[in-house]
Amino acid sequence: MWTASACAKINLHLAVHARRADGYHALTTVFQTIDLADTLTIAEHDGPFTLRCPGSDVPEDGSNLVVRAARALAEEVGRAAPTGLLVTLDKQVPAQAGLGGGSADAMAALRLLCAVWGVPPDRELLARVGGRLGSDVPFFAWGGTALGRGRGDEITALPPLPVLSCVILRPPFGVSTAEAYRWVAESRQGSAPPETPFDPPARSEEWLGRLPACRNDFEPVVAARHPDIAQSVAALREAGAVLAMMSGSGSAVYALFEGQADAARALAPLAARPGWRGWITSAGE
Ligand code: C5P
Repeated sequence: MWTASACAKINLHLAVHARRADGYHALTTVFQTIDLADTLTIAEHDGPFTLRCPGSDVPEDGSNLVVRAARALAEEVGRAAPTGLLVTLDKQVPAQAGLGGGSADAMAALRLLCAVWGVPPDRELLARVGGRLGSDVPFFAWGGTALGRGRGDEITALPPLPVLSCVILRPPFGVSTAEAYRWVAESRQGSAPPETPFDPPARSEEWLGRLPACRNDFEPVVAARHPDIAQSVAALREAGAVLAMMSGSGSAVYALFEGQADAARALAPLAARPGWRGWITSAGE
């Protein structure tokens, strides 16, 4: 039996640039893994390649990124279609939240299948196969704190964020990534997007000073349709967060605090709203 954790991510910064010829948008983003994680277990069994996600409503069929990861890796390394394996996915990371849960699961599946099949888990192989599955997947071959360029799939490691407490809030609704990109494009109406360069810190100690310059271009367009998002971000800032922002294309909102007690105090009233869920986790080294 093989087991791996699949840590979710937040985006400390997410600038959406112009749409490229291939239809994807160019990005400058800073990814950060957090300690909220799904768990993936693979066991050999007498039957076809099977995915089970007990207690969760994520699909167990070929549309799940774990199943697509298995097929893509088999193809990449010249193996026959995967069979004889039972994959159990314990979902803790909410879907349609901008936390990269499905992408993290896909990378954990690639790593585990490399172990099962005796394939060396080279980062270059993991990132290449991951890139076929989704723009966010290659980052999980690095983890930690990293800059994403291109469509988000060109990764450079950055000095690690210092350890901070991280509040995650998931509203009662999700956001589709493709739709959020359409909202950004509509809001710009063909005009050139703002191109403020992001200057990453050279050392971990510089991160706290850099966070105020971070932004998420999805946040205004998603918050315009879901005012609860703007209200949550404002409340988290007021509660003393060093950074409060929507993650990725939403719908989750996160906030970083220097102390866990402050994080817990900020979370309690916001997570108590009907249909909202909240977590306190940590981010950084
Ligand atoms: O790569 P992924 O499958 O996660 O992307 C989902 C959708 O989000 C794409 O089909 C595209 O519409 C949009 N997208 C984009 N630019 C990116 C990443 C995603 O427009 N850099």
